[in-house]
Amino acid sequence: MRRLFPVTDQTSADRSDRPWSPDELAEAYAYPELGPDGHWLRANMVSTLDGAAQHDGRSQPISSETDMQIFGTLRALADVIVVGAETVRQEGYRPARARQAFAERRSASGQGPAAAIAVITASMDLDFSLPLFTSPLVPTLVLTGAAAPAERVAEATGAGAQVVIAGDGAVVDPVRVVRELAARGLRRQLTEGGPRLLGQFVAADVLDELCLTISPMLTAGDAQRIAGGPSVTVPHRLAAAGVLEEAGFLFTSYRRI
Ligand SMILES: NC(=O)c1ccc[n+]([C@@H]2O[C@H](COP(=O)([O-])OP(=O)(O)OC[C@H]3O[C@@H](n4cnc5c(N)ncnc54)[C@H](OP(=O)(O)O)[C@@H]3O)[C@@H](O)[C@H]2O)c1
Repeated sequence: MRRLFPVTDQTSADRSDRPWSPDELAEAYAYPELGPDGHWLRANMVSTLDGAAQHDGRSQPISSETDMQIFGTLRALADVIVVGAETVRQEGYRPARARQAFAERRSASGQGPAAAIAVITASMDLDFSLPLFTSPLVPTLVLTGAAAPAERVAEATGAGAQVVIAGDGAVVDPVRVVRELAARGLRRQLTEGGPRLLGQFVAADVLDELCLTISPMLTAGDAQRIAGGPSVTVPHRLAAAGVLEEAGFLFTSYRRI
């Protein structure tokens, strides 16, 4: 992998094509310094050249080994990983694992062994017998609305999940997601989508950074793109923060201006 942007004298060593160590990736994707009340919501998504965010219902066919390495790095830097219930159902989601390569870095920044997973759901229609709920390293959070079915809430709690109400009715308010997690000390936030959830973070203007992998593939068809739902009134402009390249895959990051 090599760095295409930004290009400075300091980054010239990154411009030769070679594998990057976990430490180098962690430096490249470090969260910004946060003030005492600060929080940062970053999304990590992959898209084909023609805008598909999945193929056959999954993102794996449009990803790559290096993309998965960056996916793992972003997870290892986060306090919490926020994900929509449909992605959990479709992708056979598992709890984040402790990674030796990042253990020292996490401990130095006061983080536990692995990020917590926070699932966003209105229906609570999730399989609470999955390891995601029964045996994570840190308890999985389930964020839902006040009108969530009481018996499903009890089932989730019984399985070991922590249920957080983040909406007055059936649905969750994306602004409250960020606040509720930050209030629990989960300030370095990472969302892995899916597109319906990411679209709401965009519309609510709470997304601080997008780490977008552009996959050198075309799929045509009618797959979702990375963010769905109603469009914003005025397009949100971001600033390019970095572009890495490996085997035609571009690993971009864009930040709030
Ligand atoms: N390319 C990528 O980087 C990428 C990343 C992630 C996922 N994907 C793909 O995207 C697809 C799934 O994404 P998706 O957009 O259909 O679904 P999603 O965003 O993962 O999940 C949608 C579900 O999340 C819950 N939800 C979302 N917003 C909510 C709110 N405001 N309040 C309460 N619950 C809310 C609802 O769950 P309930 O139905 O339980 O109420 C809703 O059905 C999969 O095919 C997956 O492979 C691609």
